[in-house]
This record gives sequence, C-alpha cells and structure tokens, in this order.
Amino acid sequence: MITCSAPGKIFLFGEHAVVYGKTAIACAIDIRAQVSVEEILVPAVQMKGPGNNVDLNPRKHPYIYTVVDKFRKLADLPDDNTSSKSGKGIAIDIHSEIPVGSGLGSSAAVTIATIKALDVFYGTDLPLDEIARMGHQVELEVQGMASPTDTFVSTYGGLVRIPDRKKLDFFDAPIVVGNTRKFASTRKLVSNVASLKERHPQVINQIMDAIGTISEVGVNFVCVNDLSTVGELMNINQGLLDSIGVGSYELSELVYASRKAGALGSKITGAGGGGCMIALCEHKNLSRVAHSIKRAGGDAFICRTSNAGVRVE
Ligand code: PMV
Repeated sequence: MITCSAPGKIFLFGEHAVVYGKTAIACAIDIRAQVSVEEILVPAVQMKGPGNNVDLNPRKHPYIYTVVDKFRKLADLPDDNTSSKSGKGIAIDIHSEIPVGSGLGSSAAVTIATIKALDVFYGTDLPLDEIARMGHQVELEVQGMASPTDTFVSTYGGLVRIPDRKKLDFFDAPIVVGNTRKFASTRKLVSNVASLKERHPQVINQIMDAIGTISEVGVNFVCVNDLSTVGELMNINQGLLDSIGVGSYELSELVYASRKAGALGSKITGAGGGGCMIALCEHKNLSRVAHSIKRAGGDAFICRTSNAGVRVE
C-alpha cells in the first residue's frame, strides 16, 4: 500500500486582491490530508472516505475521480474501471484533518496527495512542478475556477508568494484557526467583489492596491519572524477585507474574541463570508485564544505553519 499526504494552507495576507494580480502570502499548515492507494483483485476503483465507508461511485469524489482519469491516460490504461494492464483495480482510502470548504485548502490537499500516491503507484515519477500543475488543472476542471495558490502551497509546503509562486524563507509560527462552520461559496464571493469593483472602481482599486502593499510590506516582517508587526498588518488586512464585503457577523465575532484574548493579529483566511479565520498568537496565549473563539461560537484548533509539502508517508 502507498500512502501520501499533503498540507492545508492559510492566507497570511492578500486573498481577493490576488484575483486582480496583487501580491498575496500563503503558508502551509501542519494539518494534512492522507491518501492511500492499493491494488485490489476486482476491476474497480474503490473509494473509502471517512468512517471507512466504501463508495463504489467515484463521481461522488470528483477531485479523486478526475485525478484517476488523468493517470489512466498517463499510464496508458483502458478507459474502464481497471487500473492496471493486468485488469486489476485500485482502492483509494482518504483521511483528512482539514475542515472541508472553509478556506483551508482541503480539496487541494486531497487532490495533491492523490496525485502523489498514484504517481508512486504507477511509477510515473512526476516532478513537483508537474504535480502542482496537474493539481491546479484538476481544481479548474472540478470547480470551473481556482487560483493556483492552494495546489501550489500544498505541493511545496512552506511560505509562498503569489502570483509569482516563489517559495520564501520559512515562517515558523503558531496559529489558532477559528471555524464559523458556515459554508460560503468562493465563486460567489469573488463575483460579489467583482460587482462592487465595477460599481466603485476608483475606491475598490485603491483597496486592492493597499492589500497588495500589505503583502509586500508584510513579507519583510514575516521573513524576520517579527510576529507582532505581522499581526498588526493582518489586522489592517482584515479591515480592508471587511470593507469589500467578504466579512460576516460570525467571522467578526471570532476575530474580535481572539484579539480580546491576546492574539497579535487575526483575520479571515480564504474567500470569507463564512469558513475560517486565523489568529497569530504568542505561545502563552494560544489556549486562551482558542477558548475565547469557542466561547464566541466557533470551532477552534491550534496548529503551526509547516515547511512540509506533499510527501510519501
Ligand atoms: O477560500 P479559498 O481558500 O479557496 O481562497 C480563495 C481566495 C481568493 O483570493 C478569494 C480566490 C483565489 O482564487 O485566490
């Protein structure tokens, strides 16, 4: 059996502005999706999700199904359910610690871990940039729209500057993630921001420029691990995200609860409208901040930034 894993991610700065070509800084975190692949005797693609439920309908897992399809072509296999030239099948087992649909890159992590697992299984020996490119292509095919941020960070790990996809010096920091448990569609939020920008181009263009500037200035403090300045800039970024309409009552409650409990900075991560927020904290405040987020009605967990990208377990 082959098992591979890939990390989730957070945006330290720059979501939404990155859609307009501005700079964003994203970082992998130490919660991961794990995908195992093994050969089975029946000619089928068997998926096992949470709770070990076997699901014979691969279309219920569109990311994995799309990856399997791509490898079928790469490994020159027949266009049916067999997964080896000798007519055998594969079982794919998925476990993920990353909350789904909440701005932490869960679909990208599952996609990248599956690509790596099938790469090892079929011996295709894809380089990392090909894994990241294929992952982005899969997200585009399944979602219709996706920036390469999540799949790139999940492949390489560590701290990454977008849009030039440059891996920067690692930023080691503890983070509390607060989850509103409210699902919000990235596509809808990106389109709401686009309409706001159409109605008020001079105003919104300047806000996008300011968010890009926060990323450019912020990276200098990130690289020297100046957590309090990074936190201050995250708070400014949060105000600007609120101003373009991607905040929500629940997100604001978690953001303010974390600051009141001593977070150095806190903001939405990802598209907003629901999903998750992140709080940068000193070690001594981590559990206080997590408790405070829970008291304010969110789920909370403590994690760390991580330099580990996709890997074979
Ligand atoms: O919610 P997420 O993690 O998919 O992030 C969306 C980030 C946006 O900047 C709003 C869109 C994008 O594709 O970069």
